[in-house]
Amino acid sequence: MVKAIRVPEHGGPEVLKWEDVEVPDPKEGEIRLKQKAIGLNFLDVYMRQGLHNTSPPLPYTPGMEGAGVVTAVGPGVTSCKVGDVVAYASLQVGGYAQERILAADQAVPVPSSVDPVEAAALIFKGLTAHVLIHKGFKVERGHTILVHAAAGGVGYLVCQWASAIGATVIGTVSTKEKAEQAKEDGCEHVILYKDEDFVERVMEITSNKGVDAVYDSVGKDTFEGSLACLKFGGSMVHFGLASGEPEPIRVFQIALKSLNYTFSSIAHYTDVDRDAMRVAAEELFENVAKGVLRVRVNHKYPLSLASQAHAAIETRKTTGSVVLIPDDE
Ligand SMILES: NC(=O)c1ccc[n+]([C@@H]2O[C@H](COP(=O)([O-])OP(=O)(O)OC[C@H]3O[C@@H](n4cnc5c(N)ncnc54)[C@H](OP(=O)(O)O)[C@@H]3O)[C@@H](O)[C@H]2O)c1
Repeated sequence: MVKAIRVPEHGGPEVLKWEDVEVPDPKEGEIRLKQKAIGLNFLDVYMRQGLHNTSPPLPYTPGMEGAGVVTAVGPGVTSCKVGDVVAYASLQVGGYAQERILAADQAVPVPSSVDPVEAAALIFKGLTAHVLIHKGFKVERGHTILVHAAAGGVGYLVCQWASAIGATVIGTVSTKEKAEQAKEDGCEHVILYKDEDFVERVMEITSNKGVDAVYDSVGKDTFEGSLACLKFGGSMVHFGLASGEPEPIRVFQIALKSLNYTFSSIAHYTDVDRDAMRVAAEELFENVAKGVLRVRVNHKYPLSLASQAHAAIETRKTTGSVVLIPDDE
């Protein structure tokens, strides 16, 4: 038996329960992992509320990101061995546990230069950032981009990375504290959207040209404004619905400025191409070593207090990454 956080019913953070669970031996193609840290994602909150279209059947153990030590391998596993430190990002839940079973091809090696806690804080959000700036819209030197929730878990990595590539990054945030962090993470301009109209400010900053791309994880509250911020031929890279689902897009909204629209997903790597995921993960860790990505483990909670971590992220109190540390670590 090990301890895990379980979701027996949908609802607020209080539904999360600290329970004993069995961890079986790994089957063919699987590994068993003793976890060092688990990354928390806004998606975990959506799922707990029952709002996400991929919310797992109840009851379930949440969590899609973590790092730990391999303690057993199932038949046929050659990609890792007992004692290896690995990280994983997976849309299949099961992360909020002291130990877990995982498909071996979802694990990527963590280089000894990277702290496993940082790896757990980085892997899901970093692979998402990788998809966003390589596939959603390929950021290049000289581009100007707008990033909503610029101090959030995915947002701060997009800002750091795009700024290192040579883009001018404009970030939106809700508070002055978040604005300070966004500046440190490469935002040349930070918009406090509660105090100023972000569309007006973007047009002022870009001399009415608009931006090459918007990275929008907020959805309902920002969607129309994001389209208005784009230049002719610009790209709307939508990737989250933190404020809910926007109204359906009308064709003329796209046609008016010959825009590109995509909803980009980490599933490119986690579900579709795990070889590409390993390569992207190597790139992430190399960028940590080079200082391009500076992992912000801003909030640590014992795994047993996951409900407190959920409450903090849900009420937008968090910046950077939130991690859960198993209580026996
Ligand atoms: N497509 C994918 O593959 C993929 C992968 C990972 C994450 N995501 C999505 O990316 C987004 C960011 O995820 P994350 O884990 O990094 O979370 P996060 O950015 O750390 O937290 C969400 C942030 O969104 C902003 N926000 C604006 N309106 C909000 C509202 N009504 N409710 C809550 N937050 C609101 C808040 O920042 P301010 O206070 O500055 O407004 C908040 O801190 C989420 O929507 C998530 O679902 C998508």
